Amino acid sequence: MKIAIVGSGYVGLVTGACFAEVGHEVVCIDNDDRKIKALRSGRIPIYEPGLEQLVQRNVSAHRLSFTGSIEEGVDSSPVIFIAVPTPPQADGSVDMTYIERVAREIASVLKEYRVIVDKSTVPVKTGEKVADTIRRYNKVNGEFDVVSNPEFLREGCAVADLMKPDRIVIGSNSERALAIMKRVYEPFMTPIMVTDVNSAELIKHAANSFLALKISYINALSAICEACEASGADVEKVADGIGADKRIGRSFLNAGLGYGGSCFPKDIAAFISISEQIGEPFHLLREVQRINQHQRERFLKKVRDTLWVLKEKRIAVWGLTFKPDTDDVRSSVAVDLVNDLIREGAHVTAYDPKGNQKVHEFNLCPGVHLASSALDAVRDAETLVLATEWPDFAAVDLAEVHRRMHTPIVFDGRNLFDPDTMRDLGFQYYRVGRPPTKANGSGLSNNDPVRIPIAMESRTTPVQDSSNRPVTKRPRYLAKASASKTSVDRS
Ligand code: UGA
Repeated sequence: MKIAIVGSGYVGLVTGACFAEVGHEVVCIDNDDRKIKALRSGRIPIYEPGLEQLVQRNVSAHRLSFTGSIEEGVDSSPVIFIAVPTPPQADGSVDMTYIERVAREIASVLKEYRVIVDKSTVPVKTGEKVADTIRRYNKVNGEFDVVSNPEFLREGCAVADLMKPDRIVIGSNSERALAIMKRVYEPFMTPIMVTDVNSAELIKHAANSFLALKISYINALSAICEACEASGADVEKVADGIGADKRIGRSFLNAGLGYGGSCFPKDIAAFISISEQIGEPFHLLREVQRINQHQRERFLKKVRDTLWVLKEKRIAVWGLTFKPDTDDVRSSVAVDLVNDLIREGAHVTAYDPKGNQKVHEFNLCPGVHLASSALDAVRDAETLVLATEWPDFAAVDLAEVHRRMHTPIVFDGRNLFDPDTMRDLGFQYYRVGRPPTKANGSGLSNNDPVRIPIAMESRTTPVQDSSNRPVTKRPRYLAKASASKTSVDRS
């Protein structure tokens, strides 16, 4: 089936490549000439595991092409997806300029029946507005239906999420449009949930808000666990304990520095704004936002309280992207944290496996020094902060990290490392929602004076596994294979 996708950003490109992979003939449209040129010459503007190969394979098979012309896409395809950005405005509401412009452009070239599918994340009732706009600007009374088909892709595993989705939601008030949409999704062999257009639009905002709520819930619990440090309450055990209940589920209960990225912060703000506009303010979501902001502030306070003064401290930060397996640094908590540290006068050296370039290109952390490797970043550092849980960091030789640091203090903002290993290696180790660990193995109060092991040369034997790698905790998203009895249903 021929499919046109307007917008070749993150969602549009991944969707287009996956549709082509299952046999559809897809044309991806974008008004950015440079992007179209790059895509035509095989260059992918974003990093997403598996995407480059997918695009190359389908371009070679002539199932995927790129153009700057909406007319070309509308003329050739019975179904046109809109996947353009819906950025936030200063008051949290959604800027609908791009969607409205695409609706007008489609209207100006629409001649015969087409299904217009809204894939961008939009406020409820957007479908009605898109339909009104097309009717208003189309001169030939062309037939069409507007459908809502929200996406649930996570960056870093977007290709897998699209190829094997949990569910496909299609909001349509027309049987004719629904029949076409079913043909689009037939090859994915996944249950399709059919709703009206407004419900489908709401499902997307409700899903993201609920996931953010889970994260804030566990982060609020992590504060309680830290406050109970004398009893050693551990937020991960609490998460395992409640997550084992199928009604709750373990995924999205990983405590850390809070959520970031281009979706959750924007979508929660948008949903709050929408709820206020329709006169039913969603107060709970304001609390979700507040906890998220407070989580980073609490973490920073822990660093400050431990080091006493941040000014002139040499601090290494591992991680800049908003999550692992992406180069996306938009609304990244790691970037915010680096800027907080710099504002307090610290000398920050940061490293990210994929995020360095974008932080440099957009000057997101003025004053930061970007290192060329994780080990390079910790040279002579007085503290290491882990801000993004890249698997690469779990594989670093921690004994070498210890050797290179001036004072071996680690603040783990994503609970990546194994506390016993850190203790055995002689680190003073702070985690989120779990008791801190000091080199000799007993609990250490945040208020205890900082004690740095003196015998730096004698603490070099790492704990090793059978592959001779230093043992660190497995990143949470890789934990499935080695899950303990209590760690079921992890994301
Ligand atoms: C999110 C949703 O998960 C997708 O279903 C949705 O399609 C997408 O937004 C979107 O609206 O386009 P994404 O933002 O790519 O996907 O990434 P997530 O894996 O959801 O992570 C979001 C943030 O939450 C990250 O900063 C991550 O570190 C944080 N997080 C996630 C936690 O702090 N704890 C967790 O347990 C899980």
